[in-house]
This record gives sequence, C-alpha cells and structure tokens, in this order.
Amino acid sequence: MYIKKITQILRKLEIITYASVRRTSDWWQNVSLGPPDPILGLTEAYNLNKHPKKMNIGVGGYKDDEGKPYVLPCVREAEAIIAGKKMDKDYAPIQGIAEFNEQSAKLAFGGESYVIRNSLNVTVQAVSGTGALRLGGAFLKNFFPGSKIIYLPSLTWLNHVPVFKHSGLDIKTYKYYDPETRTLDFCGLMEDIGNMPENSVILFHPIAHNPTGVDPTREQWVEISHAVKRKRLLVFFDMAYQGFVTGDLDADAASVRLFIDECHHILLAQTYSKVMGLYGERIGAFTVITGSEEEAGRVLSQLKILIRAMYANPPLHGARIATEILKSEKLTKQWTDELKGMAQRIISIRQKLKQGLEREGSTRNWDHVISQRGMFCFTGLNPEQVKKLTEDFHIYLNTNGRISIAAVGSNNVDYLAHAIHQVTK
Ligand SMILES: Cc1ncc(COP(=O)(O)O)c(C=O)c1O
Repeated sequence: MYIKKITQILRKLEIITYASVRRTSDWWQNVSLGPPDPILGLTEAYNLNKHPKKMNIGVGGYKDDEGKPYVLPCVREAEAIIAGKKMDKDYAPIQGIAEFNEQSAKLAFGGESYVIRNSLNVTVQAVSGTGALRLGGAFLKNFFPGSKIIYLPSLTWLNHVPVFKHSGLDIKTYKYYDPETRTLDFCGLMEDIGNMPENSVILFHPIAHNPTGVDPTREQWVEISHAVKRKRLLVFFDMAYQGFVTGDLDADAASVRLFIDECHHILLAQTYSKVMGLYGERIGAFTVITGSEEEAGRVLSQLKILIRAMYANPPLHGARIATEILKSEKLTKQWTDELKGMAQRIISIRQKLKQGLEREGSTRNWDHVISQRGMFCFTGLNPEQVKKLTEDFHIYLNTNGRISIAAVGSNNVDYLAHAIHQVTK
C-alpha cells in the first residue's frame, strides 16, 4: 500500500515511467522489428512523398482515369437495394450466406455445371481471396491425405508464400515464367509437373497470372490437365480476376471449367475484391469439389469447424452486395458492362504506355506490355531500375518490376513512359 502510494507520487512527478515500474513483465523485449509489407509498405512511403507527380503503381487496385478509387455503379445500386430492405445484423451462418455461396459457385462453374446439379461442390463464404486461400491451407493441412507440400508457380502473388506457410504447409515452386522470353516456360512447367511426387498439391492462377500477366493457352491448359491427372495432383485454383481480362465471365473461367469437365476434384479460391471493386469488404468464397453429395456433407462439416476456430462467422455486407448483383439479371448485365469498361481502360493504358516508350525513343522490345493480361504489367525492370524510378521520379512499385496498369491514368501514362525510358536507356 505504502509502496503503491510512493510509486503514484513519483509517477506524477515523472521521476519513474510506467515501463520501468513494470520491468518484471518485459515479455516482448526480444520481438524484433519486422519489415514493412512488400506491397502495402509502398503506400506508406508514397503517402509521405509530397511531389506533385508521384505515382503509386505497386498496389493492385483499380483506379479511374483520374487516378481516383472507383466504386462500381452496380455496387452503389446493390447497396441502395440492401439499405431499403432494412436487414438485420444477426450473425451469418458459419459457412456464410447460402444464396451468396450458390451464386459464387454458379459464377465460377456455370449454372448448368454437373458439379452444381449433383451437389458435389462445397462452397463457403470466405474473408476475401486471402481468407479463402488460408482456409484452404488449413483444410489441406488437416485433411489432405497426400503430401503437405504445395507447389506454387515461380513467380506468384507475394502473399501466397506466407499464407500457406502460416497454414503449416511446405512450399515448393514449379517453373512458370521465362524472364528471357517474357513468356510462359511451358516446357519447364510440364517437366516440373512430371517430377512432382504423386498426391501433391499444385496451385494455378486460372486467369491474369499475378504478377506476370502470362497465362497458358487453352491447348496448354489441356496438356496441363492431363499431366496433373497422370500425377494424381490436387489442383488449387486461385481465381482473383474472373471477368477482368475480357469482361466475359464465362471466357475468363474457361480453365477452371475445363478441369471440372475433366473430372478433377479441385479446390477454388474466389474473391470479389478486384472484379466488383469490393476490396475493403473482404468478400470471397472457397470451394472443395467432392466425389459425392455424402462426401460433400462431411467436408462441409469440417470446414465449419475450421471457420469457427478461425473467425467464427463471416461478415455480412460484402456478401449481400455480391448476392444482389449476381441474382439480378439486370445488375449482372450492368456489372459485366462495367467490368468490360475497366478491362478496356486497362488495355488502352497498355497501348499508350508502349506508344509513349517508343515516342521517348526506347529501342527495347516492349511487346509484353501489350501481350500480358489483367491488371498488372511485369515490366522486366530490375531492382536497381525500380529504385531509380522511385528516387528520381517518385514512382512507387515493387522491386520485382510489377506495375499495376489499373492505377495509371491518361494524364500520367506519358510521365511513366518517360521515367521508364530514363531508367532503362
Ligand atoms: C492472385 C491473387 N490471389 C488472391 C488475392 C487476394 O485478394 P483479396 O484478399 O484482397 O481478395 C490477390 C490480390 O491481389 C491476388 O492477386
């Protein structure tokens, strides 16, 4: 009592600090300072920069032509409908909103797919694409009877590695991108699949590969499907960009549907972050394709147990928005028109960037700026050139040279072309 009183007086006089009183509980003394996130850390640095021409083209978020965040008009309409319904705020079921899960499965596989007609898919709501991958990782770690290795393409989305490591899986890579030709290393990919142990897990980006923008052709997907089958590999598709490449939802899901038609029992992660611009709503889905309705029931029961332990129940708002859009023919049509608009703006910026580089007098081959697909361009810039872009031109991007074309506008594409030429000539 007496000591407590003295301590209080000393603290008032600022003679001893709170930390020194609590010296006995220095539990976090050995926690080292972690590095900033390789992608989101760029935004922090960008925000501190006051240069008028600064550009943040590291983060994969779609912006309008003036560089402002874009909320799709169909999303605004869906929100107005939801607001009018005065819905409750009760917990969602553990596996999420049933109608959302049904619509998400239809979006990926097509309404007439045999997996849906025969209830072979277990589709649950997930905390966006990242959450779907993490849930998938937990499911594999706990229930996949094969190896606990997941093969990722070399290169891949930077967060794949920590997400699957955190799930307790071992990571290996397979050849995917050839930096010399800036195209798919198809021979290397097929060779690596041939060398994988049977009953391993392999992850594919079904469309708009991040970060390279390089996808297999239809014929190559067919060959990949056959090789995967020969090796009895479990395929995990991470579909973050359905509709973003062509504006055609069916065309962009072709590789996933091919594997379904060829009777692969795949896993699938979906996200509405990019395709509906619902980044901060954290809305996605995770699917396991099973062999029978009875097996689907058992898988669902275990996914619910995993979800309960990870975050209990998913959030409501994003799922309600996506459901309103997907279940209404009118809103779906509007959404796909808006998707096409986004896809076309990206294609036009690609063309302007290439033309700008040529106008600047660059003699390098920039064909890949146009041939790569989706939100990103894998420029081929090396870390030294990236550093110069940031230091001399206030342009922020990841050291791997990936730029988000979707964050470039008509008003600054020429500045970007000029800067890239200056650091590459
Ligand atoms: C290939 C890929 N997968 C998954 C995600 C996860 O996105 P989110 O968690 O924001 O939905 C992204 C986001 O950039 C991505 O590019």
